[in-house]
Amino acid sequence: MNSLLTAEEYQTRLRALSVRLADVREIERRKLSKDLHDHVGHELGLARIKLSSIIRGNEFELPEELKENLLNIEDHLKQAIRQSRSLGYEYYPQVLDDAGLIPALEWLAKQYTERQQIQIQLLVDVSCEQVRFAPALRSRLFTAVRECVYNAWKYADSEEIRIRIRPREHQKIEIKVEDDGRGFDIRSLDHLDRKQGGFGLFSIQEMIEHQGGNFKCDTSPGKGTRIIMIIPPEHLEHQETT
Ligand SMILES: Nc1ncnc2c1ncn2[C@@H]1O[C@H](COP(=O)(O)OP(=O)(O)OP(=O)(O)O)[C@@H](O)[C@H]1O
Ligand SMILES: [Mg+2]
Repeated sequence: MNSLLTAEEYQTRLRALSVRLADVREIERRKLSKDLHDHVGHELGLARIKLSSIIRGNEFELPEELKENLLNIEDHLKQAIRQSRSLGYEYYPQVLDDAGLIPALEWLAKQYTERQQIQIQLLVDVSCEQVRFAPALRSRLFTAVRECVYNAWKYADSEEIRIRIRPREHQKIEIKVEDDGRGFDIRSLDHLDRKQGGFGLFSIQEMIEHQGGNFKCDTSPGKGTRIIMIIPPEHLEHQETT
Protein backbone atom coordinates (compact mmCIF):
# COMPACT_ATOMS: atom_id res chain seq x y z
CA MET A 1 0.00 0.00 0.00
CA ASN A 2 2.91 2.29 0.74
CA SER A 3 3.89 3.43 -2.75
CA LEU A 4 0.41 3.64 -4.32
CA LEU A 5 -0.69 6.84 -2.62
CA THR A 6 1.14 9.87 -1.38
CA ALA A 7 0.57 10.77 2.28
CA GLU A 8 -1.59 13.69 1.15
CA GLU A 9 -3.78 11.53 -1.11
CA TYR A 10 -4.08 8.98 1.63
CA GLN A 11 -5.28 11.65 4.03
CA THR A 12 -7.82 12.98 1.52
CA ARG A 13 -9.22 9.49 1.02
CA LEU A 14 -9.44 8.86 4.74
CA ARG A 15 -11.34 12.10 5.21
CA ALA A 16 -13.78 11.21 2.43
CA LEU A 17 -14.17 7.76 3.98
CA SER A 18 -15.05 9.23 7.38
CA VAL A 19 -17.81 11.36 5.81
CA ARG A 20 -19.08 8.30 3.93
CA LEU A 21 -19.10 6.27 7.12
CA ALA A 22 -21.17 8.90 8.91
CA ASP A 23 -23.63 8.93 5.99
CA VAL A 24 -23.96 5.15 6.05
CA ARG A 25 -24.70 5.29 9.78
CA GLU A 26 -27.35 7.89 9.09
CA ILE A 27 -28.99 5.73 6.41
CA GLU A 28 -28.95 2.73 8.74
CA ARG A 29 -30.56 4.69 11.57
CA ARG A 30 -33.26 5.96 9.27
CA LYS A 31 -33.92 2.46 7.95
CA LEU A 32 -34.06 1.00 11.43
CA SER A 33 -36.52 3.67 12.49
CA LYS A 34 -38.72 3.04 9.46
CA ASP A 35 -38.60 -0.76 9.92
CA LEU A 36 -39.53 -0.40 13.58
CA HIS A 37 -42.49 1.74 12.63
CA ASP A 38 -43.66 -0.09 9.50
CA HIS A 39 -43.09 -3.68 10.60
CA VAL A 40 -42.65 -4.17 14.34
CA GLY A 41 -45.02 -1.34 15.32
CA HIS A 42 -47.57 -2.39 12.71
CA GLU A 43 -47.62 -6.07 13.75
CA LEU A 44 -47.82 -5.21 17.43
CA GLY A 45 -50.65 -2.78 16.70
CA LEU A 46 -52.61 -5.44 14.83
CA ALA A 47 -52.09 -7.97 17.62
CA ARG A 48 -53.35 -5.44 20.16
CA ILE A 49 -56.48 -4.64 18.14
CA LYS A 50 -57.29 -8.36 17.71
CA LEU A 51 -56.74 -9.10 21.36
CA SER A 52 -58.86 -6.12 22.44
CA SER A 53 -61.71 -7.25 20.23
CA ILE A 54 -61.56 -10.77 21.72
CA ILE A 55 -61.61 -9.38 25.27
CA ARG A 56 -64.37 -6.81 24.66
CA GLY A 57 -66.41 -9.16 22.42
CA ASN A 58 -66.48 -11.94 25.04
CA GLU A 59 -66.54 -9.85 28.12
CA PHE A 60 -69.21 -11.92 29.92
CA GLU A 61 -68.29 -15.39 28.63
CA LEU A 62 -64.58 -15.39 29.45
CA PRO A 63 -63.58 -17.00 32.76
CA GLU A 64 -62.32 -14.33 35.14
CA GLU A 65 -58.79 -15.71 35.39
CA LEU A 66 -58.37 -15.96 31.61
CA LYS A 67 -59.74 -12.44 31.17
CA GLU A 68 -57.23 -11.08 33.66
CA ASN A 69 -54.38 -12.79 31.83
CA LEU A 70 -55.53 -11.42 28.50
CA LEU A 71 -55.80 -7.91 29.93
CA ASN A 72 -52.29 -8.33 31.24
CA ILE A 73 -51.01 -9.36 27.79
CA GLU A 74 -52.83 -6.34 26.34
CA ASP A 75 -50.91 -4.07 28.73
CA HIS A 76 -47.61 -5.64 27.68
CA LEU A 77 -48.49 -5.09 24.04
CA LYS A 78 -49.35 -1.43 24.68
CA GLN A 79 -46.01 -1.01 26.43
CA ALA A 80 -44.13 -2.67 23.54
CA ILE A 81 -45.89 -0.38 21.05
CA ARG A 82 -44.91 2.70 23.06
CA GLN A 83 -41.32 1.51 23.33
CA SER A 84 -40.93 0.66 19.65
CA ARG A 85 -42.35 4.09 18.79
CA SER A 86 -39.98 5.97 21.06
CA LEU A 87 -36.99 3.84 19.99
CA GLY A 88 -37.82 4.50 16.33
CA TYR A 89 -38.03 8.20 17.07
CA GLU A 90 -34.68 8.15 18.80
CA TYR A 91 -33.04 6.52 15.82
CA TYR A 92 -34.54 9.05 13.48
CA PRO A 93 -36.98 11.71 14.63
CA GLN A 94 -39.59 11.94 11.89
CA VAL A 95 -40.14 15.59 12.79
CA LEU A 96 -36.87 16.28 10.92
CA ASP A 97 -38.51 15.41 7.60
CA ASP A 98 -41.94 16.76 8.51
CA ALA A 99 -41.00 20.09 10.05
CA GLY A 100 -37.22 20.59 9.75
CA LEU A 101 -34.14 20.97 11.90
CA ILE A 102 -35.33 23.55 14.42
CA PRO A 103 -38.46 21.62 15.54
CA ALA A 104 -36.29 18.46 15.74
CA LEU A 105 -33.86 20.31 18.02
CA GLU A 106 -36.80 21.45 20.16
CA TRP A 107 -37.74 17.80 20.50
CA LEU A 108 -34.14 16.89 21.43
CA ALA A 109 -34.01 19.62 24.08
CA LYS A 110 -37.30 18.45 25.58
CA GLN A 111 -36.08 14.83 25.67
CA TYR A 112 -32.94 15.79 27.57
CA THR A 113 -34.79 18.02 29.99
CA GLU A 114 -37.34 15.30 30.75
CA ARG A 115 -35.06 12.27 30.83
CA GLN A 116 -31.65 13.49 31.95
CA GLN A 117 -32.81 16.40 34.07
CA ILE A 118 -30.46 18.81 32.38
CA GLN A 119 -31.65 22.13 31.05
CA ILE A 120 -31.13 22.59 27.31
CA GLN A 121 -31.91 26.00 25.91
CA LEU A 122 -32.55 26.41 22.22
CA LEU A 123 -32.05 30.04 21.24
CA VAL A 124 -32.93 30.79 17.63
CA ASP A 125 -32.41 34.29 16.26
CA VAL A 126 -35.69 35.55 14.86
CA SER A 127 -34.14 35.96 11.39
CA CYS A 128 -33.34 32.22 11.33
CA GLU A 129 -36.75 30.95 12.35
CA GLN A 130 -37.89 30.51 8.77
CA VAL A 131 -34.67 28.99 7.50
CA ARG A 132 -34.88 25.48 6.10
CA PHE A 133 -31.73 23.43 5.81
CA ALA A 134 -31.33 21.38 2.64
CA PRO A 135 -32.65 17.81 3.20
CA ALA A 136 -29.24 16.26 2.60
CA LEU A 137 -27.72 18.34 5.36
CA ARG A 138 -30.38 18.57 8.04
CA SER A 139 -30.09 15.03 9.38
CA ARG A 140 -26.30 15.36 9.44
CA LEU A 141 -26.60 18.62 11.37
CA PHE A 142 -29.09 17.06 13.75
CA THR A 143 -26.67 14.19 14.40
CA ALA A 144 -23.83 16.68 14.91
CA VAL A 145 -25.77 18.77 17.43
CA ARG A 146 -26.95 15.64 19.20
CA GLU A 147 -23.33 14.46 19.53
CA CYS A 148 -22.24 17.84 20.97
CA VAL A 149 -25.14 17.83 23.43
CA TYR A 150 -24.36 14.24 24.40
CA ASN A 151 -20.69 15.13 24.92
CA ALA A 152 -21.63 18.10 27.06
CA TRP A 153 -23.99 15.97 29.13
CA LYS A 154 -21.41 13.19 29.48
CA TYR A 155 -18.21 15.11 30.11
CA ALA A 156 -18.89 18.73 30.99
CA ASP A 157 -20.74 18.48 34.30
CA SER A 158 -22.54 21.64 33.37
CA GLU A 159 -25.86 22.91 34.71
CA GLU A 160 -27.10 23.99 31.35
CA ILE A 161 -26.40 23.45 27.65
CA ARG A 162 -27.29 26.07 25.06
CA ILE A 163 -27.88 25.58 21.35
CA ARG A 164 -27.78 28.87 19.50
CA ILE A 165 -28.69 29.48 15.88
CA ARG A 166 -27.91 32.89 14.44
CA PRO A 167 -27.03 34.57 11.15
CA ARG A 168 -23.45 35.25 10.16
CA GLU A 169 -21.85 37.37 7.46
CA HIS A 170 -22.46 36.53 3.77
CA GLN A 171 -25.80 34.81 4.55
CA LYS A 172 -24.18 32.00 6.45
CA ILE A 173 -25.71 30.47 9.54
CA GLU A 174 -23.98 29.61 12.76
CA ILE A 175 -25.01 26.74 15.00
CA LYS A 176 -23.29 26.80 18.35
CA VAL A 177 -23.52 24.27 21.16
CA GLU A 178 -22.09 25.60 24.39
CA ASP A 179 -21.75 24.58 27.99
CA ASP A 180 -20.09 26.22 30.96
CA GLY A 181 -18.68 22.99 32.32
CA ARG A 182 -15.22 21.63 32.80
CA GLY A 183 -13.84 22.14 29.29
CA PHE A 184 -10.75 20.27 28.13
CA ASP A 185 -7.33 20.65 26.64
CA ILE A 186 -7.79 20.41 22.90
CA ARG A 187 -4.31 18.89 22.53
CA SER A 188 -5.52 15.88 24.53
CA LEU A 189 -7.48 14.78 21.44
CA ASP A 190 -4.18 13.80 19.79
CA HIS A 191 -3.59 11.23 22.52
CA LEU A 192 -7.05 9.67 22.76
CA ASP A 193 -7.26 5.90 22.56
CA ARG A 194 -9.23 5.66 19.33
CA LYS A 195 -10.24 2.11 20.10
CA GLN A 196 -12.46 3.58 22.83
CA GLY A 197 -14.12 6.14 20.55
CA GLY A 198 -12.96 9.69 20.11
CA PHE A 199 -14.55 10.09 16.68
CA GLY A 200 -17.44 12.38 17.57
CA LEU A 201 -15.83 15.80 17.13
CA PHE A 202 -13.57 14.61 14.37
CA SER A 203 -16.45 13.39 12.20
CA ILE A 204 -18.44 16.59 12.82
CA GLN A 205 -15.48 18.64 11.66
CA GLU A 206 -15.03 16.49 8.55
CA MET A 207 -18.73 16.65 7.70
CA ILE A 208 -18.94 20.44 8.09
CA GLU A 209 -15.78 21.11 6.12
CA HIS A 210 -16.87 18.66 3.43
CA GLN A 211 -19.99 20.83 2.99
CA GLY A 212 -17.86 23.94 2.58
CA GLY A 213 -18.55 25.17 6.12
CA ASN A 214 -16.34 25.98 9.09
CA PHE A 215 -15.88 24.16 12.35
CA LYS A 216 -14.35 25.39 15.56
CA CYS A 217 -13.98 23.86 18.99
CA ASP A 218 -13.27 26.59 21.51
CA THR A 219 -12.44 25.14 24.91
CA SER A 220 -9.92 25.01 27.70
CA PRO A 221 -9.89 23.38 31.14
CA GLY A 222 -12.37 25.06 33.48
CA LYS A 223 -13.66 27.39 30.76
CA GLY A 224 -16.53 25.41 29.23
CA THR A 225 -16.82 24.28 25.61
CA ARG A 226 -18.23 25.97 22.53
CA ILE A 227 -18.63 23.98 19.34
CA ILE A 228 -19.24 26.31 16.42
CA MET A 229 -20.48 25.15 13.04
CA ILE A 230 -20.89 27.65 10.22
CA ILE A 231 -23.06 26.63 7.30
CA PRO A 232 -22.69 28.30 3.90
CA PRO A 233 -25.82 29.72 2.18
CA GLU A 234 -26.01 27.11 -0.61
CA HIS A 235 -27.45 24.66 1.94
CA LEU A 236 -30.16 27.04 3.13
CA GLU A 237 -33.62 27.93 1.92
CA HIS A 238 -35.39 30.97 3.34
CA GLN A 239 -39.13 30.42 3.45
CA GLU A 240 -41.45 33.25 2.54
CA THR A 241 -43.58 34.42 5.44
CA THR A 242 -47.14 35.45 4.63
N1 LIG B 1 -18.46 19.43 26.15
C1 LIG B 1 -17.37 18.81 26.59
N2 LIG B 1 -16.89 19.06 27.83
C2 LIG B 1 -15.76 18.44 28.30
N3 LIG B 1 -15.03 17.56 27.57
C3 LIG B 1 -15.46 17.27 26.32
C4 LIG B 1 -16.63 17.88 25.76
N4 LIG B 1 -16.76 17.41 24.49
C5 LIG B 1 -15.75 16.56 24.27
N5 LIG B 1 -14.95 16.47 25.36
C6 LIG B 1 -13.69 15.70 25.48
O1 LIG B 1 -13.22 15.48 24.16
C7 LIG B 1 -13.06 14.09 23.91
C8 LIG B 1 -13.41 13.79 22.45
O2 LIG B 1 -14.81 13.88 22.22
P1 LIG B 1 -15.40 13.06 21.00
O3 LIG B 1 -16.88 13.31 20.95
O4 LIG B 1 -14.61 13.40 19.79
O5 LIG B 1 -15.09 11.55 21.35
P2 LIG B 1 -15.70 10.64 22.50
O6 LIG B 1 -16.94 11.25 23.04
O7 LIG B 1 -14.59 10.35 23.47
O8 LIG B 1 -16.05 9.29 21.71
P3 LIG B 1 -17.22 9.07 20.61
O9 LIG B 1 -17.86 10.39 20.37
O10 LIG B 1 -16.51 8.53 19.41
O11 LIG B 1 -18.13 8.08 21.25
C9 LIG B 1 -13.93 13.39 24.92
O12 LIG B 1 -13.44 12.11 25.24
C10 LIG B 1 -13.88 14.34 26.11
O13 LIG B 1 -12.72 14.08 26.88
MG1 LIG C 1 -18.50 11.97 21.72
